[in-house]
Amino acid sequence: MERTLAILKPDCVRQNLAGKVIDKILAGGFRIVALKMVKLTTDTAGAFYAVHKERPFFNDLVKFMSSGTCIPLVLEKQNAVTAFRELIGATDPAQAVAGTIRREFASSKQENIVHGSDSPENANLEISFFFSNKELVENN
Ligand code: RTP
Ligand code: MG
Repeated sequence: MERTLAILKPDCVRQNLAGKVIDKILAGGFRIVALKMVKLTTDTAGAFYAVHKERPFFNDLVKFMSSGTCIPLVLEKQNAVTAFRELIGATDPAQAVAGTIRREFASSKQENIVHGSDSPENANLEISFFFSNKELVENN
């Protein structure tokens, strides 16, 4: 079964929306394989989003992602990567389809509630960024 990495971003946790977002993830048929709370340093947030380091929004993104608690989750479903990107919607909530998590909860293109891996290869790299194999719960 395919896996993807999600992160509930600091805006999600700060607004007490984690429960509502997790409800939508479960209602979407995803199984939670792992979950934890973390406070990223600027170095760790920068390493996670290193692919964007030349982008104009990189410094703001790093500041935002290290501004509060994040909740990374490993999710499992058939075609989990694509299915989760569909569930969260476009990066900019104004462009996101009605009913998607970002459309429903996000306030801006930066403060967009949730991260989702963009390919199965990156999903595996991102899962090992946050979790050891021991932390992945196979049977629940
Ligand atoms: P993510 O990686 O967090 O799932 O988001 P994404 O694929 O939809 O978008 P991506 O292009 O990978 O951008 C990563 C995150 O950077 C922030 N961003 N801000 N102000 C801006 O123009 C801008 N563009 C991107 C967002 O937090 C975005 O999710
Ligand atoms: Mg991305």
